[in-house]
Amino acid sequence: MKTCFWNLIGAVAALALSFSVASASPSKRYDATTKTCRSLTQENDLEGYKVFRRVCKECHNLTGEDGRFLYSESKGGNAWNRVFAEKYPKCAKTGAWDKLSLEDQLKLNDFLVRTGADAYDPHDAKDCG
Ligand code: HEC
Repeated sequence: MKTCFWNLIGAVAALALSFSVASASPSKRYDATTKTCRSLTQENDLEGYKVFRRVCKECHNLTGEDGRFLYSESKGGNAWNRVFAEKYPKCAKTGAWDKLSLEDQLKLNDFLVRTGADAYDPHDAKDCG
């Protein structure tokens, strides 16, 4: 009975550990807006970064006047996907995103997922070099 208990504790600990380990930068993502699977490319990352600078950073910059500071690591990939799938931020409802075409939105979302808080894992062969 005692061994059984410790086996259970071990299994739970192993499970918890496997969840806490980051995975390598993703190479694709599911996009809920278009219901498609997107391959993440360096070209789109760059385009997405430019959109972030042009549209979002107008407010989400270090001055903190129009919105709190945001950068790609403010959220993990899944959270960024939710931002665009649900368009829940206050600014999306006020029309601050109107400059954003669908293509811009997709590339911006790609960039944020690829560089989000949980994306980089130096212990993974895909990211370490
Ligand atoms: C005209 C100014 C403005 C622009 C442009 C703007 N935002 Fe916002 N945003 C705000 C304000 C104001 C809030 C609500 C206060 C806050 O949390 O910063 C907000 C809130 C948010 C939040 C919620 C805050 C959080 O921590 O979860 C997210 C996410 C967000 N914006 C993302 C974006 C993205 C992505 C873009 C570019 C497509 C963008 N915003 C463009 C003003 C703006």
